[in-house]
Amino acid sequence: MDDRSSPERVVRPTVRVRLGVAADVAGVWRVHNTSIRQLCRARYAPEEIEAWIAFRPPEAYLASIASEALFVAEQQCAVVGFGQLDPARGEIAACYVAPEAVGSGIGSALLARMEEEARRRGHRIVRLNSTLNAETFYASRGYRRLGRAAHRVSGNVDLPCVRMEKALSPTGSE
Ligand SMILES: CC(C)(COP(=O)(O)OP(=O)(O)OC[C@H]1O[C@@H](n2cnc3c(N)ncnc32)[C@H](O)[C@@H]1OP(=O)(O)O)[C@@H](O)C(=O)NCCC(=O)NCCS
Repeated sequence: MDDRSSPERVVRPTVRVRLGVAADVAGVWRVHNTSIRQLCRARYAPEEIEAWIAFRPPEAYLASIASEALFVAEQQCAVVGFGQLDPARGEIAACYVAPEAVGSGIGSALLARMEEEARRRGHRIVRLNSTLNAETFYASRGYRRLGRAAHRVSGNVDLPCVRMEKALSPTGSE
């Protein structure tokens, strides 16, 4: 059937998840800041948002890139999301999508890539501190709530968050 005339037909540009490289730092920083400012403001106070953003200069991503633990989602040559894994602890340290790109599966794709990497490095459980606004997202991806936690950022500000974990299947079939 020729569906070219269908008004429902939406063609989304392809998203590719790959390892981050040093040249991605500016794009990652942009996604991190805009995502915090626009997507987290419903659950955090303005002073918490400012302390959170001040916490991390662009160069801070380089160590994670060097240990091959930072992944970017790229769409039409632009970074639209990124995730960071702490490979030694099996901890998901970050998963952020650009506000203009949310709701199209990018967060899930980044999370799946980090889980695959954690499994490859021998972890059977991944853990994370979820923002208050992302708890439902992680729950829909198989994470269970362990309890309330806090994440310390600049100025000794403690951001309230939710501790969560997920058991990885040895084969990656979940
Ligand atoms: C949380 C976040 C990464 C999700 O990314 P995304 O690309 O929008 O997620 P997906 O499109 O893969 O959504 C996957 C599912 O979760 C749901 N979902 C996504 N964000 C959600 C939210 N904030 N609340 C409730 N459900 C959410 C989607 O509806 C979708 O459900 P479906 O599979 O039934 O269709 C993104 O909203 C974000 O960057 N938020 C701000 C930063 C943040 O708080 N990150 C977490 C740091 S720990």
